[in-house]
Amino acid sequence: MTRAVIAGSGSEIPPTRVSNAMLARVMDTSDEWIRERSGVEARHYVERGTGTSDLGVVAARRAIDHAGITPADIDLVVFATMTPDHFFPGAGALLQAKLGLREVPCFDIRQQCVGFLYGLQLADAQIRAGLARTVLLVGAEIHTGFMPWTATNWEYMLGRGDVPPTPEEFAWNTRFRHLTVLFGDAGAAVVVRATEEPRRGVVDSLLHTSGAEYDKLYVPGTGFKHRPYTDPEQFKRGDHIPVMDGRAVFKMATTSMIAASQEVLTRNEVRIDELSLVLMHQANKRINEYCQKALGIPDSKVLHNIERYGNTTAATIPLLWDEAARAGRVTAGDLVLLVAFGAGMNWGATLVRV
Ligand code: ACO
Repeated sequence: MTRAVIAGSGSEIPPTRVSNAMLARVMDTSDEWIRERSGVEARHYVERGTGTSDLGVVAARRAIDHAGITPADIDLVVFATMTPDHFFPGAGALLQAKLGLREVPCFDIRQQCVGFLYGLQLADAQIRAGLARTVLLVGAEIHTGFMPWTATNWEYMLGRGDVPPTPEEFAWNTRFRHLTVLFGDAGAAVVVRATEEPRRGVVDSLLHTSGAEYDKLYVPGTGFKHRPYTDPEQFKRGDHIPVMDGRAVFKMATTSMIAASQEVLTRNEVRIDELSLVLMHQANKRINEYCQKALGIPDSKVLHNIERYGNTTAATIPLLWDEAARAGRVTAGDLVLLVAFGAGMNWGATLVRV
């Protein structure tokens, strides 16, 4: 039976590292609050003008090299992002052109923090159906476009300017602090290849969506429900910036990630001690600690990078995978559990045999 195996991975972290203390220059927050409530210590931001497809391209080149293939081998692209370069077309087509791929189909998917798991299931299904042999699956995000601060505030925050925010600007930035401090920019990619080897590849994917809860985390404006879809009034109200009910999301994330993990393990008759590694989406360290404890997973099997990068949405799981692979933590025969929850609301759990 043909299965889909992760054959290589790559990632790209933008150069500008921003600490919690730097964010506190433009809004009412503190290193202590951010660390305690979320686990984030720093995040990386792109420079103005960089697009999500650019981060994806660098990550993809590294994944292609790591897999020992060439761009010409790729016969399908799946690009997961909630922050594409343009409203349309999606970032997949742009990446295809920048990488010089053949005119292969490119799917653009938007399941936010669960984008990678949805993309992996799609890649696996395409491979099992015989429609593709080598899939490039990318997860990348540039959250900085959501940040509400002005160009002058940016310079001050980065230590490149000496004009502090006005009291009005400081208050405006503070309005979104529960959200903005959590996110960072990053890109990551994997090459998924067909294999006929038994006992390898994607073992099982469990995916769920509950659209009924979409308004717990969403962008209220700049959509085609509005006419025109973007206008100065929406910007004045801040409708282009996500709205998040943090406590509700926290609760749903813990419940769903625990339930999905238990379900996928039970239906595949896998015990926790048979897992080599558990890679959880990095939205909040406290969410993951809660899930880890409830599932009884030892620290040695859980990797985290939220302290260094914050929440990188669709990039998070492939980024963790890439870090694990390059640190020698993902080796042939290992059984890895991937778990994520995010806006939509979407969640899922996937079992992969390396
Ligand atoms: N700095 C300082 N104080 C802050 C900040 C900040 N950055 N943000 C909020 N506060 C204040 C609040 O105003 C509030 O003050 P008050 O008590 O005077 O009213 C206080 O801190 C507590 O606020 P809460 O929102 O109750 O804090 P909580 O402990 O719930 O933490 C957080 C907030 C970190 C957002 C948490 O709820 C969380 O992580 N939720 C889940 C996020 C998530 O998983 N998102 C999904 C993935 S993202 C995606 O799919 C795109």
